[in-house]
Amino acid sequence: MKSYLSASQMELRNEYNQIKEQYGEFCKSSLKLDMSRGKPGADQLDLIEGMLTVLAGNQDCYTRNGWDCRNYGLVDGIPEAKALFAELIGVQESELIVMGNSSLNIMYDTMADAMLFGVNGKEPWCKQGTIKFLCPAPGYDRHFTLCETFGIEMIPVKMNADGPDMDQVEQLASSDASIKGIWCVPKYSNPTGITYSDEVVRRFASLKTAAEDFCIYWDNAYLIHDLNAETEPLLDLLAACKQQGTENRVFMFASTSKITFPGAGVALFAASETNIARRKKKLCAQTIGHDKLNQLRHVKYFGCASGVKEHMQKQAAILRPKFDCVLKTLKAELGDKGIASWHHPKGGYFISLDVYENTARRTWELAKNAGVTLTNAGATFPYNQDPRDCNLRIAPTYPSNEELQTAIRILCCCVRLSALEKLLQA
Ligand SMILES: Cc1ncc(COP(=O)(O)O)c(C=O)c1O
Repeated sequence: MKSYLSASQMELRNEYNQIKEQYGEFCKSSLKLDMSRGKPGADQLDLIEGMLTVLAGNQDCYTRNGWDCRNYGLVDGIPEAKALFAELIGVQESELIVMGNSSLNIMYDTMADAMLFGVNGKEPWCKQGTIKFLCPAPGYDRHFTLCETFGIEMIPVKMNADGPDMDQVEQLASSDASIKGIWCVPKYSNPTGITYSDEVVRRFASLKTAAEDFCIYWDNAYLIHDLNAETEPLLDLLAACKQQGTENRVFMFASTSKITFPGAGVALFAASETNIARRKKKLCAQTIGHDKLNQLRHVKYFGCASGVKEHMQKQAAILRPKFDCVLKTLKAELGDKGIASWHHPKGGYFISLDVYENTARRTWELAKNAGVTLTNAGATFPYNQDPRDCNLRIAPTYPSNEELQTAIRILCCCVRLSALEKLLQA
Protein backbone atom coordinates (compact mmCIF):
# COMPACT_ATOMS: atom_id res chain seq x y z
CA MET A 1 0.00 0.00 0.00
CA LYS A 2 1.27 3.48 -0.93
CA SER A 3 0.35 6.69 0.87
CA TYR A 4 -2.17 6.28 3.65
CA LEU A 5 -3.39 9.77 2.88
CA SER A 6 -4.84 8.80 -0.49
CA ALA A 7 -6.18 5.38 0.58
CA SER A 8 -9.89 4.54 0.83
CA GLN A 9 -11.44 3.67 4.21
CA MET A 10 -11.65 0.03 3.10
CA GLU A 11 -7.92 -0.05 2.24
CA LEU A 12 -7.09 1.61 5.53
CA ARG A 13 -9.17 -0.91 7.45
CA ASN A 14 -7.40 -3.85 5.75
CA GLU A 15 -4.02 -2.28 6.44
CA TYR A 16 -5.01 -1.64 10.06
CA ASN A 17 -5.93 -5.31 10.57
CA GLN A 18 -2.59 -6.44 9.17
CA ILE A 19 -0.50 -3.94 11.15
CA LYS A 20 -2.43 -4.68 14.35
CA GLU A 21 -1.59 -8.36 13.93
CA GLN A 22 2.09 -7.51 13.32
CA TYR A 23 2.06 -5.36 16.46
CA GLY A 24 0.63 -8.26 18.45
CA GLU A 25 3.51 -10.48 17.28
CA PHE A 26 6.08 -7.85 18.30
CA CYS A 27 4.48 -7.60 21.75
CA LYS A 28 4.93 -11.36 22.19
CA SER A 29 8.70 -11.12 21.58
CA SER A 30 9.12 -9.61 25.11
CA LEU A 31 11.88 -7.23 24.02
CA LYS A 32 13.05 -4.74 26.68
CA LEU A 33 15.02 -1.91 25.16
CA ASP A 34 15.57 1.53 26.65
CA MET A 35 16.42 4.08 23.95
CA SER A 36 15.35 7.08 25.97
CA ARG A 37 18.78 8.74 26.33
CA GLY A 38 21.65 9.33 23.90
CA LYS A 39 24.26 7.15 25.54
CA PRO A 40 27.40 5.75 23.92
CA GLY A 41 27.38 1.98 23.48
CA ALA A 42 29.81 -0.20 25.41
CA ASP A 43 31.79 -0.77 22.19
CA GLN A 44 32.41 2.99 21.93
CA LEU A 45 33.55 3.14 25.56
CA ASP A 46 35.80 0.09 25.12
CA LEU A 47 37.71 2.00 22.42
CA ILE A 48 39.21 4.25 25.09
CA GLU A 49 40.40 1.55 27.46
CA GLY A 50 43.94 2.95 27.17
CA MET A 51 42.87 6.11 28.96
CA LEU A 52 42.27 4.09 32.12
CA THR A 53 45.95 3.22 32.43
CA VAL A 54 47.66 6.16 30.75
CA LEU A 55 48.74 7.46 34.16
CA ALA A 56 50.75 4.46 35.30
CA GLY A 57 52.28 5.81 38.51
CA ASN A 58 53.39 8.79 40.60
CA GLN A 59 55.83 9.94 37.94
CA ASP A 60 52.95 10.50 35.46
CA CYS A 61 50.98 12.90 37.62
CA TYR A 62 52.80 16.12 36.72
CA THR A 63 51.99 18.79 34.14
CA ARG A 64 54.66 19.74 31.63
CA ASN A 65 55.65 22.68 33.85
CA GLY A 66 55.95 20.45 36.89
CA TRP A 67 52.59 21.01 38.64
CA ASP A 68 51.56 18.02 40.77
CA CYS A 69 48.02 17.20 39.56
CA ARG A 70 47.33 15.10 42.63
CA ASN A 71 47.26 18.26 44.67
CA TYR A 72 45.01 21.34 44.94
CA GLY A 73 45.11 24.23 42.48
CA LEU A 74 44.79 25.32 38.84
CA VAL A 75 41.13 26.17 39.11
CA ASP A 76 40.83 26.99 35.40
CA GLY A 77 42.48 23.77 34.22
CA ILE A 78 45.96 22.46 33.57
CA PRO A 79 47.83 24.37 30.84
CA GLU A 80 48.15 21.45 28.42
CA ALA A 81 44.41 20.66 28.66
CA LYS A 82 43.62 24.32 28.02
CA ALA A 83 45.88 24.28 24.96
CA LEU A 84 44.41 21.08 23.53
CA PHE A 85 40.76 21.98 24.08
CA ALA A 86 41.17 25.62 23.03
CA GLU A 87 42.46 24.36 19.67
CA LEU A 88 39.67 21.80 19.45
CA ILE A 89 36.85 24.25 20.01
CA GLY A 90 38.53 27.17 18.26
CA VAL A 91 39.01 29.72 21.05
CA GLN A 92 42.05 31.30 22.74
CA GLU A 93 43.37 29.62 25.90
CA SER A 94 42.50 32.84 27.72
CA GLU A 95 38.86 32.34 26.68
CA LEU A 96 38.54 28.85 28.17
CA ILE A 97 38.13 27.12 31.51
CA VAL A 98 38.56 23.35 31.69
CA MET A 99 36.36 21.95 34.44
CA GLY A 100 34.98 18.69 35.80
CA ASN A 101 32.89 15.96 34.30
CA SER A 102 29.68 17.55 33.06
CA SER A 103 28.84 20.52 30.85
CA LEU A 104 25.23 20.38 32.07
CA ASN A 105 26.62 21.10 35.52
CA ILE A 106 28.35 24.22 34.14
CA MET A 107 25.10 25.32 32.46
CA TYR A 108 23.28 24.93 35.78
CA ASP A 109 25.96 26.97 37.53
CA THR A 110 25.81 29.63 34.82
CA MET A 111 22.06 30.01 35.35
CA ALA A 112 22.41 29.97 39.14
CA ASP A 113 25.12 32.62 38.88
CA ALA A 114 22.86 34.81 36.72
CA MET A 115 20.01 34.38 39.20
CA LEU A 116 22.11 35.30 42.23
CA PHE A 117 24.64 37.76 40.86
CA GLY A 118 23.40 38.90 37.45
CA VAL A 119 24.97 38.87 34.00
CA ASN A 120 27.42 41.43 32.60
CA GLY A 121 27.15 43.69 35.66
CA LYS A 122 23.34 43.91 35.57
CA GLU A 123 20.85 43.23 38.40
CA PRO A 124 20.56 39.59 39.51
CA TRP A 125 17.75 37.88 37.65
CA CYS A 126 16.07 37.02 40.95
CA LYS A 127 15.53 40.76 41.51
CA GLN A 128 14.23 41.48 38.03
CA GLY A 129 10.82 39.79 38.15
CA THR A 130 9.83 37.51 35.28
CA ILE A 131 12.77 36.04 33.38
CA LYS A 132 12.17 34.48 29.97
CA PHE A 133 14.25 32.35 27.61
CA LEU A 134 13.90 31.61 23.92
CA CYS A 135 13.85 27.86 23.36
CA PRO A 136 14.26 26.62 19.79
CA ALA A 137 12.09 23.52 19.53
CA PRO A 138 12.42 20.64 18.97
CA GLY A 139 15.37 21.02 21.32
CA TYR A 140 17.29 19.40 24.18
CA ASP A 141 14.94 18.44 27.00
CA ARG A 142 17.45 19.15 29.77
CA HIS A 143 17.78 22.79 28.70
CA PHE A 144 14.04 23.04 29.27
CA THR A 145 14.37 21.28 32.63
CA LEU A 146 17.00 23.85 33.66
CA CYS A 147 14.62 26.69 32.82
CA GLU A 148 11.78 25.04 34.73
CA THR A 149 14.07 24.46 37.72
CA PHE A 150 14.91 28.16 37.91
CA GLY A 151 11.34 29.29 37.22
CA ILE A 152 12.30 30.79 33.86
CA GLU A 153 9.45 31.16 31.40
CA MET A 154 10.12 29.44 28.10
CA ILE A 155 9.13 30.82 24.73
CA PRO A 156 9.31 28.21 21.96
CA VAL A 157 10.99 29.29 18.73
CA LYS A 158 10.59 27.42 15.47
CA MET A 159 13.56 25.34 14.35
CA ASN A 160 14.33 25.57 10.64
CA ALA A 161 16.71 23.44 8.56
CA ASP A 162 19.51 25.99 9.15
CA GLY A 163 18.88 26.84 12.82
CA PRO A 164 16.32 28.75 14.86
CA ASP A 165 13.90 31.00 12.98
CA MET A 166 15.94 34.21 13.23
CA ASP A 167 13.06 36.49 12.20
CA GLN A 168 11.20 35.26 15.26
CA VAL A 169 14.33 35.46 17.47
CA GLU A 170 15.03 39.05 16.36
CA GLN A 171 11.43 40.15 16.82
CA LEU A 172 11.16 38.66 20.33
CA ALA A 173 14.63 39.53 21.66
CA SER A 174 14.38 43.15 20.51
CA SER A 175 10.94 43.77 21.96
CA ASP A 176 10.98 42.22 25.45
CA ALA A 177 13.62 43.11 28.06
CA SER A 178 12.61 40.16 30.23
CA ILE A 179 13.99 37.79 27.56
CA LYS A 180 17.49 37.09 28.84
CA GLY A 181 18.78 34.36 26.61
CA ILE A 182 18.42 31.58 24.10
CA TRP A 183 19.46 27.94 24.20
CA CYS A 184 21.37 26.75 21.14
CA VAL A 185 22.85 23.40 20.13
CA PRO A 186 24.51 24.79 17.02
CA LYS A 187 26.11 21.70 15.54
CA TYR A 188 24.33 18.40 14.86
CA SER A 189 21.59 19.73 17.06
CA ASN A 190 19.80 17.61 19.63
CA PRO A 191 17.45 16.26 18.34
CA THR A 192 17.11 17.50 14.74
CA GLY A 193 20.75 16.91 13.72
CA ILE A 194 21.00 20.20 11.83
CA THR A 195 23.95 22.63 11.91
CA TYR A 196 23.36 26.38 12.06
CA SER A 197 24.14 28.27 8.85
CA ASP A 198 26.70 31.10 8.68
CA GLU A 199 23.84 33.56 8.27
CA VAL A 200 22.16 32.38 11.47
CA VAL A 201 25.44 32.70 13.42
CA ARG A 202 26.03 36.22 12.00
CA ARG A 203 22.51 37.27 12.91
CA PHE A 204 23.14 36.07 16.47
CA ALA A 205 26.31 38.16 16.61
CA SER A 206 24.49 41.31 15.52
CA LEU A 207 21.20 40.62 17.30
CA LYS A 208 19.54 43.72 18.76
CA THR A 209 18.27 42.85 22.22
CA ALA A 210 16.00 44.81 24.55
CA ALA A 211 17.81 43.27 27.55
CA GLU A 212 21.40 44.40 28.05
CA ASP A 213 22.03 41.14 29.89
CA PHE A 214 20.75 38.92 27.08
CA CYS A 215 23.16 36.05 26.35
CA ILE A 216 23.45 33.19 23.90
CA TYR A 217 23.83 29.85 25.68
CA TRP A 218 25.82 27.98 23.01
CA ASP A 219 25.86 24.30 23.93
CA ASN A 220 28.28 22.85 21.41
CA ALA A 221 27.91 19.29 22.71
CA TYR A 222 28.43 17.67 19.28
CA LEU A 223 31.16 19.89 17.86
CA ILE A 224 33.34 17.09 16.45
CA HIS A 225 30.81 14.29 16.36
CA ASP A 226 30.81 13.72 12.61
CA LEU A 227 29.45 10.49 11.17
CA ASN A 228 31.59 10.80 8.03
CA ALA A 229 35.09 11.99 7.16
CA GLU A 230 33.80 15.44 6.24
CA THR A 231 32.30 17.83 8.77
CA GLU A 232 29.46 20.34 8.50
CA PRO A 233 31.20 23.67 9.08
CA LEU A 234 29.97 25.96 11.85
CA LEU A 235 30.91 29.62 11.90
CA ASP A 236 32.80 30.72 15.02
CA LEU A 237 30.23 32.64 17.12
CA LEU A 238 32.75 34.21 19.49
CA ALA A 239 34.81 35.56 16.56
CA ALA A 240 31.64 36.84 14.82
CA CYS A 241 30.60 38.56 18.06
CA LYS A 242 34.05 40.13 18.50
CA GLN A 243 33.61 41.76 15.09
CA GLN A 244 30.33 43.27 16.31
CA GLY A 245 31.61 44.12 19.81
CA THR A 246 29.08 41.69 21.34
CA GLU A 247 31.46 39.01 22.65
CA ASN A 248 30.21 39.39 26.23
CA ARG A 249 26.88 37.89 25.21
CA VAL A 250 28.30 34.42 24.50
CA PHE A 251 28.54 31.49 26.92
CA MET A 252 29.88 28.34 25.28
CA PHE A 253 29.69 24.83 26.71
CA ALA A 254 31.14 21.52 25.57
CA SER A 255 32.44 18.30 27.04
CA THR A 256 34.13 15.03 26.24
CA SER A 257 31.12 13.04 27.47
CA LYS A 258 30.52 11.67 23.96
CA ILE A 259 34.23 11.58 23.11
CA THR A 260 35.67 9.67 26.04
CA PHE A 261 33.44 8.72 28.98
CA PRO A 262 30.12 10.38 29.97
CA GLY A 263 30.88 9.16 33.48
CA ALA A 264 34.42 10.54 33.57
CA GLY A 265 34.92 13.21 30.96
CA VAL A 266 36.14 16.78 30.97
CA ALA A 267 33.82 19.75 30.52
CA LEU A 268 34.57 23.12 28.95
CA PHE A 269 33.34 26.66 29.42
CA ALA A 270 34.37 29.32 26.88
CA ALA A 271 33.53 33.02 26.80
CA SER A 272 35.10 36.46 26.33
CA GLU A 273 38.17 37.20 28.47
CA THR A 274 36.01 39.53 30.56
CA ASN A 275 33.47 36.82 31.29
CA ILE A 276 36.19 34.23 31.92
CA ALA A 277 37.74 36.54 34.53
CA ARG A 278 34.32 36.99 36.21
CA ARG A 279 33.69 33.26 36.17
CA LYS A 280 37.13 32.44 37.50
CA LYS A 281 36.57 34.72 40.47
CA LYS A 282 33.35 32.87 41.33
CA LEU A 283 35.00 29.49 40.74
CA CYS A 284 37.66 30.32 43.29
CA ALA A 285 34.91 30.53 45.88
CA GLN A 286 33.36 27.30 44.62
CA THR A 287 36.35 24.96 44.40
CA ILE A 288 40.14 24.81 44.78
CA GLY A 289 40.37 22.89 41.54
CA HIS A 290 38.68 20.29 39.36
CA ASP A 291 39.89 16.75 38.69
CA LYS A 292 43.27 17.54 37.16
CA LEU A 293 44.36 13.92 36.91
CA ASN A 294 41.48 13.34 34.54
CA GLN A 295 42.46 16.38 32.48
CA LEU A 296 46.00 14.99 32.35
CA ARG A 297 44.69 11.57 31.33
CA HIS A 298 42.85 13.17 28.40
CA VAL A 299 45.93 15.07 27.27
CA LYS A 300 48.32 12.13 27.62
CA TYR A 301 45.95 9.78 25.84
CA PHE A 302 45.16 12.03 22.85
CA GLY A 303 48.41 14.00 22.62
CA CYS A 304 46.83 16.85 20.63
CA ALA A 305 43.58 18.07 19.09
CA SER A 306 44.08 16.00 15.93
CA GLY A 307 44.44 12.91 18.16
CA VAL A 308 40.90 13.59 19.41
CA LYS A 309 39.63 13.94 15.84
CA GLU A 310 41.25 10.64 14.81
CA HIS A 311 39.57 8.97 17.74
CA MET A 312 36.20 10.38 16.66
CA GLN A 313 36.62 8.71 13.28
CA LYS A 314 36.87 5.37 15.11
CA GLN A 315 33.67 6.20 16.96
CA ALA A 316 32.04 7.18 13.66
CA ALA A 317 32.88 3.76 12.21
CA ILE A 318 30.83 2.22 15.02
CA LEU A 319 27.97 4.72 14.79
CA ARG A 320 27.53 4.94 11.01
CA PRO A 321 25.98 1.46 10.63
CA LYS A 322 23.56 2.26 13.44
CA PHE A 323 22.37 5.49 11.85
CA ASP A 324 22.22 3.74 8.45
CA CYS A 325 20.14 0.95 9.95
CA VAL A 326 17.59 3.42 11.37
CA LEU A 327 17.40 5.47 8.18
CA LYS A 328 17.06 2.42 5.91
CA THR A 329 14.36 0.92 8.09
CA LEU A 330 12.43 4.20 8.27
CA LYS A 331 12.60 4.49 4.49
CA ALA A 332 11.54 0.89 3.89
CA GLU A 333 8.68 0.92 6.41
CA LEU A 334 7.43 4.51 6.25
CA GLY A 335 8.99 6.06 3.13
CA ASP A 336 5.91 5.97 0.93
CA LYS A 337 3.15 6.18 3.54
CA GLY A 338 2.84 9.97 3.72
CA ILE A 339 2.67 9.87 7.54
CA ALA A 340 6.24 10.56 8.70
CA SER A 341 9.34 12.59 7.90
CA TRP A 342 12.84 12.64 9.34
CA HIS A 343 16.19 14.35 9.01
CA HIS A 344 19.36 12.61 7.75
CA PRO A 345 21.93 13.87 10.26
CA LYS A 346 25.60 14.02 9.32
CA GLY A 347 26.66 13.81 12.94
CA GLY A 348 25.53 13.99 16.55
CA TYR A 349 23.54 11.44 18.49
CA PHE A 350 19.94 11.58 17.30
CA ILE A 351 17.44 11.16 14.52
CA SER A 352 14.37 13.33 14.87
CA LEU A 353 11.20 11.67 13.60
CA ASP A 354 8.00 13.57 12.87
CA VAL A 355 5.02 11.22 12.81
CA TYR A 356 1.44 11.84 11.70
CA GLU A 357 -0.05 14.81 13.55
CA ASN A 358 -1.50 14.11 16.99
CA THR A 359 -0.07 10.60 17.15
CA ALA A 360 3.38 10.96 18.77
CA ARG A 361 2.11 10.25 22.30
CA ARG A 362 0.10 7.27 21.10
CA THR A 363 3.09 5.97 19.10
CA TRP A 364 5.30 6.32 22.18
CA GLU A 365 2.77 4.39 24.27
CA LEU A 366 2.41 1.59 21.70
CA ALA A 367 6.21 1.28 21.46
CA LYS A 368 6.56 1.19 25.24
CA ASN A 369 3.98 -1.59 25.49
CA ALA A 370 5.91 -3.52 22.86
CA GLY A 371 9.14 -3.16 24.89
CA VAL A 372 10.79 -0.14 23.22
CA THR A 373 11.18 2.92 25.47
CA LEU A 374 11.88 6.19 23.65
CA THR A 375 12.39 9.67 25.09
CA ASN A 376 8.90 10.79 26.16
CA ALA A 377 6.79 12.25 23.37
CA GLY A 378 6.70 16.00 23.92
CA ALA A 379 10.04 16.09 25.75
CA THR A 380 11.71 17.92 22.87
CA PHE A 381 9.42 20.94 23.49
CA PRO A 382 9.22 23.37 26.43
CA TYR A 383 6.75 22.18 29.10
CA ASN A 384 6.44 18.87 27.20
CA GLN A 385 4.01 20.63 24.87
CA ASP A 386 4.58 19.59 21.30
CA PRO A 387 1.85 21.68 19.64
CA ARG A 388 1.40 19.16 16.82
CA ASP A 389 2.11 16.08 18.98
CA CYS A 390 4.30 14.71 16.21
CA ASN A 391 7.96 14.70 17.29
CA LEU A 392 9.86 11.67 18.58
CA ARG A 393 13.59 11.43 19.26
CA ILE A 394 15.44 8.29 18.21
CA ALA A 395 18.74 7.66 20.01
CA PRO A 396 20.46 4.91 18.01
CA THR A 397 23.86 4.75 19.73
CA TYR A 398 23.33 2.53 22.78
CA PRO A 399 21.62 -0.67 21.53
CA SER A 400 23.48 -3.36 19.61
CA ASN A 401 22.91 -3.34 15.84
CA GLU A 402 20.55 -6.33 16.11
CA GLU A 403 18.50 -4.78 18.93
CA LEU A 404 18.34 -1.52 17.02
CA GLN A 405 17.04 -3.18 13.87
CA THR A 406 14.23 -4.85 15.83
CA ALA A 407 13.47 -1.70 17.84
CA ILE A 408 13.08 0.46 14.73
CA ARG A 409 10.88 -2.12 13.01
CA ILE A 410 8.68 -2.08 16.12
CA LEU A 411 8.68 1.72 16.17
CA CYS A 412 7.68 1.89 12.49
CA CYS A 413 4.87 -0.57 13.15
CA CYS A 414 3.66 1.70 15.99
CA VAL A 415 3.90 4.82 13.79
CA ARG A 416 1.73 3.09 11.19
CA LEU A 417 -0.73 1.73 13.71
CA SER A 418 -1.30 5.06 15.46
CA ALA A 419 -1.69 6.88 12.12
CA LEU A 420 -4.19 4.26 10.96
CA GLU A 421 -6.16 4.61 14.21
CA LYS A 422 -6.33 8.36 13.65
CA LEU A 423 -7.23 8.11 9.95
CA LEU A 424 -9.96 5.58 10.63
CA GLN A 425 -11.48 7.87 13.28
CA ALA A 426 -11.60 10.76 10.79
C1 LIG B 1 22.92 19.07 23.69
C2 LIG B 1 23.49 18.40 24.90
N1 LIG B 1 24.11 19.13 25.82
C3 LIG B 1 24.63 18.58 26.94
C4 LIG B 1 24.53 17.22 27.17
C5 LIG B 1 25.08 16.66 28.42
O1 LIG B 1 26.42 16.98 28.49
P1 LIG B 1 27.35 16.55 29.71
O2 LIG B 1 27.45 15.08 29.69
O3 LIG B 1 28.65 17.23 29.39
O4 LIG B 1 26.74 17.07 30.97
C6 LIG B 1 23.88 16.41 26.22
C7 LIG B 1 23.73 14.97 26.46
O5 LIG B 1 23.02 14.26 25.82
C8 LIG B 1 23.35 17.01 25.06
O6 LIG B 1 22.72 16.31 24.12
